[in-house]
Amino acid sequence: MRKIVIAIDGYSGCGKSSTAKAVAKILGYTYIDSGAMYRAATLQFLKNGTDITDIKEILSSLSQIEISFRANPDNGRQETYLNGENVEDAIRSMEVSDYVSEVSKIKEVRTALVAQQQKLGDAKGVVMDGRDIGTVVFPDAELKVFMTADLQIRAARRQQELQEKGVEVKLEEIIRNLGERDEIDSTRKESPLLKADDAIEVDTSYLKFDDQVKKVVDLAKEKI
Ligand code: C5P
Repeated sequence: MRKIVIAIDGYSGCGKSSTAKAVAKILGYTYIDSGAMYRAATLQFLKNGTDITDIKEILSSLSQIEISFRANPDNGRQETYLNGENVEDAIRSMEVSDYVSEVSKIKEVRTALVAQQQKLGDAKGVVMDGRDIGTVVFPDAELKVFMTADLQIRAARRQQELQEKGVEVKLEEIIRNLGERDEIDSTRKESPLLKADDAIEVDTSYLKFDDQVKKVVDLAKEKI
């Protein structure tokens, strides 16, 4: 069976990551969370107090970033490491969520991270989720999925995910954050969030999780 690249793009919080993770597991593929890479860069910028209007500072901070993914030996969960430190929880904080789309607008940041993402996908057999995977990172991906879902439903799901991690955030705050990120991500100059012409749209608003996973797996099987 040939190995393919599966690109899953879409709005914030519509289940891209959890779907991509489950699809990768079923197909025996590698899952890569490109959003975690933008979040890790944002965390480093916050730690360094990087002035994001100063290209020299941006390039200097970028040169200090080494991002990797490792499986947690206890539960198999893939976790993000920044310069050897586990930052999986730190990159999901509201502070990072509120700043990540500003950092992701910067051309130099995208150039650096896209190059890493392309390297990770070189060997195929990859499911990567993000905003520009089907349009910029892997324009030749064999399967492109564009996920959407109603904003209220996305926010309620995100609130539940955070609650399960013991983090309490008001629904209104989540709605504001998701809405703001969608707006910045869709209107930025560099690689805006766009549905690729050949992407298949999947609205997850009223789909059960297992059904949305099955839908993507079935689409993948048609291409394998
Ligand atoms: O996927 P997640 O919601 O964690 O992504 C966080 C942010 O990272 C997005 O809101 C977007 O600003 C940025 N991002 C991006 N391009 C990607 C993945 C994420 O600009 N491929």
